[in-house]
Amino acid sequence: MIYKKVYIKTWGCQMNLYDSNKIINHLKSFNTYKFVDSYKDSNLIILNTCSIRKKSELKVFNYLNKLKKLKIFNNKTIVCLCGCLATHLKDKIFSRTNLVNIICGPKSIQNLNNLIIKFVKYKKRLIDIKNRNISENINKILSDNVKINSFVTIMEGCNKFCSYCIVPFTRGFELSRKPESIINQICYLSKNKIIEINLLGQNVNAYNSFFKNGIKCDFTDLLCLISKINKIKRIRFTTSHPYNFNNKLINSYKYLSKLVNFLHLPVQSGSNKILKLMGRKYTIEYYKEIIYKLLYIRPNMLFSTDFIVGFPNETEKDFLMTLDLIKEIKFDYSYIFMYSPRQGTISFNMIDNIDNNEKKRRFKEIKKLIIENVSEINKKMLFNIYKILVEGFSKKDFSYLFGRTENNRKVFFIGKKNLLGKLVSVKIYKISTYYLYGKLV
Ligand code: 5AD
Ligand code: SF4
Repeated sequence: MIYKKVYIKTWGCQMNLYDSNKIINHLKSFNTYKFVDSYKDSNLIILNTCSIRKKSELKVFNYLNKLKKLKIFNNKTIVCLCGCLATHLKDKIFSRTNLVNIICGPKSIQNLNNLIIKFVKYKKRLIDIKNRNISENINKILSDNVKINSFVTIMEGCNKFCSYCIVPFTRGFELSRKPESIINQICYLSKNKIIEINLLGQNVNAYNSFFKNGIKCDFTDLLCLISKINKIKRIRFTTSHPYNFNNKLINSYKYLSKLVNFLHLPVQSGSNKILKLMGRKYTIEYYKEIIYKLLYIRPNMLFSTDFIVGFPNETEKDFLMTLDLIKEIKFDYSYIFMYSPRQGTISFNMIDNIDNNEKKRRFKEIKKLIIENVSEINKKMLFNIYKILVEGFSKKDFSYLFGRTENNRKVFFIGKKNLLGKLVSVKIYKISTYYLYGKLV
């Protein structure tokens, strides 16, 4: 029997955080692993990696070198590299570093224990990046991590092949879980204090599955079913794609009151020329139509998005169109990325002709506008009442609890322990860029 002390380090998106939980639960089910908080106390290091940009890739190799310099490796230490870098670089990782012993792709997590046992026995480097089916057997998995909100993967993978993006290659084609299995999992979570669900997938609104009786179930159908679960009070989802944001989904905002008044909808650029080069499959007019239809149904709805700056051939004129879009839609806190060419994608063959300093300038300009929007939104929130989901105590002062509004603002307020896990109303009386302060009403 082996006994391993495991340290797990996670980079990247929410899907990766979710996968790290899967890894933890998979290994814990064998009773031969103990999880530790520091790599210093471990003899099995799991790196759950991201490869979306070059920088994400470099971070992993720099981390390994840092550990090597700190001399934390001995001949019993096993290093296992999981996540998107495993499926992106495959066995090239072995030639780039001799510090990795096992490579395990995101769809092979259920084989990780076998790989570790095999490595201990034969001391031969191993790789498993097979594309297995999406795991349905995760009802029990989350039992250890009961909080008040939980991610639930409903689909994985992507068929969109945006010209810059590595995800379809690292995560494979879109695969949707069975609706019965998702509903069972959410019912189980709701009986364990979870009241907010965040549906997870690379393109959640491309969700497309069938009930056991053969009847089709799309994303809106799934939202309707989840809404019927009494104890679930709030529903979020991430990430959706404008291409699949159809009228059926838009109209569901009229009658699904548990859907939050907030939507993260990646736009990437405000210029149709760049959207076409990116292979995004929509025009900026179509994107705005979605936003305005939603605002017609819910006038107070807020939006966040993703931008890529410095995509090949993005001129100042194209960039100004993105700035105009930000001013028009008044995006709330959003993500900005500098374009990073990824081998294997279509845009890798385009000349990366916007120099780094220019990318940085465009990044900063967008950031400035977004921060202006954020503080304007905060000002509008001042003296108004919002429902927040109470998540925990303030670390600085235990007399304060905190929770989040539908647009993800952290709000601190004075309150007692019995409010934890509840939806409460607070009136905002003080604002800063990132936090708000409120009073129970
Ligand atoms: N370069 C820069 N940003 C990228 N993204 C995806 N691929 C790249 C890339 N090659 C960004 C997109 C996407 C987010 C998850 O990451 O904005 O929406
Ligand atoms: Fe990548 Fe585009 Fe798929 Fe999003 S939709 S994961 S950006 S290929």
